[in-house]
Amino acid sequence: MSDRGLELARDKMTTAGVAPAAIDTFSRFYRLLESGATGLVREADVEPLPQLPRAHDLDLDDAAASAALAQTAIIKLNGGLGTSMGMDRAKSLLPVRTDDQGRDLTFLDVIVGQVRAARAATGARLPLVLMNSFRTQTDTLALLSRYDDLAVEGLPLDFLQNREPKLLADTLEPAEWPADPDLEWCPPGHGDLYPALHASGVVRALLDAGFRYASVSNSDNLGAAPDARIAAWFAASGAPYAAEMCLKTPADVKGGQLVVRKSDGRIIQRETAQTHPDDLEVSLDPERHRYFHTNNLWFDLEALAAELDRTGGVLELPLIRNEKTVDPADGSSPKVVQIESAMGAAVAVFEGAQAIEVGRERFLPVKTTNDLLVLRSDVYELTDDHHLVARVPAPLVKLSGVYKTIAQFDERFRSGAPSLRRATSLTVDGDWTFGQGVVVEGDAVLSDAGTARTVPDGATVTGAGVVDAGGA
Ligand code: UTP
Repeated sequence: MSDRGLELARDKMTTAGVAPAAIDTFSRFYRLLESGATGLVREADVEPLPQLPRAHDLDLDDAAASAALAQTAIIKLNGGLGTSMGMDRAKSLLPVRTDDQGRDLTFLDVIVGQVRAARAATGARLPLVLMNSFRTQTDTLALLSRYDDLAVEGLPLDFLQNREPKLLADTLEPAEWPADPDLEWCPPGHGDLYPALHASGVVRALLDAGFRYASVSNSDNLGAAPDARIAAWFAASGAPYAAEMCLKTPADVKGGQLVVRKSDGRIIQRETAQTHPDDLEVSLDPERHRYFHTNNLWFDLEALAAELDRTGGVLELPLIRNEKTVDPADGSSPKVVQIESAMGAAVAVFEGAQAIEVGRERFLPVKTTNDLLVLRSDVYELTDDHHLVARVPAPLVKLSGVYKTIAQFDERFRSGAPSLRRATSLTVDGDWTFGQGVVVEGDAVLSDAGTARTVPDGATVTGAGVVDAGGA
């Protein structure tokens, strides 16, 4: 380990034309990585978030809500590759529902539908701007080209985030992978939003076009639809930055949280990786830390522009060290470290940052094929304004390891998702391929039969396994 690794990485980025702010951000993180900095946030130094205002209780009139939305832009994080689901392109390109003519709708189609519906309902111009990475841009823009009414004059449909070299875990030098040199690079996590916004000039362009607020969320969270009421609350708050939080349920045990730093009263983010082992239990206690972070954020664009100008886009965010293999599909390829940071960690940078409690309907992330199965099922209904509304409490789905990647999953659910409306949970052990029109009820279990099996068309699955073979 030496400065040689950093020098090589900087040279590689410069040769590839990476923006100077991104190279500086990477270099700062590299030094933190080398020094072994942990960035631990001890429980004794923080307080839990106080009781937050609740979006559902806001007393706002419709005119104020429409006025705030008229000044709002929607930014979606779309640069990740869905590697947890075995993907090497944007998750938002996956079909998630069908329209009333049976055509597939991807996450992106649903997002566009939400934006157009909000425009039609309120008259807001509501630009949609994606943050893409070098791996997601081409496919995503090709899909969006079907919507010729989407672009807002003077504004791009996307901006490109940066890329950085993957580092060999043992030497911290840039990895080489001649079989597919693209795999030598990775997007630096969604904390890259700030250098990417700075380099692209998008914040300035939005301000010049008359916008004042940005509502930012993950493209894999279809719950984060444009929301005029939250926009109105944010506008009235005068805060530079706000985070949407949800109340924890017993199922929400991990993930980042916001806490209040005792030394200066600022809200800061604490990731699991920044929690001291002795503090882990109390940090997970839902009685003490009642909220979790949805990664839905609001920015006052003027405050954001000022911060980006002041720092040149290099915000002092904590480092996230992510260990993977250089070829994610080949677990025996060399181990690499990817330097990442989280967008929500910027809360500490903005004095006067606030948080609001939102309903669970604003948090529908798809991190695993378990999540995707529920979203594709009849538990959710796609409304005319393209909101996904849960008709019953969502069941807890646990599919076995053979459903982990999207290819494995699709192969086993070729005829679509089973009906999950009457299920409280579905646990699938082993390898089962689902036929058409399967109905799941109660706490349903399919046990490992030792070989690949099929749930026949029209069958019912319960706690006793396949109980009604649907006439097969
Ligand atoms: P996640 O890290 O949770 O998901 O990002 P991912 O990257 O899609 O999936 P994995 O971890 O590889 O399986 C949450 C959101 O942030 C975006 C993603 O596109 C997703 O919408 N993101 C993530 C970026 O825009 N850029 C990044 O560098 C990383």
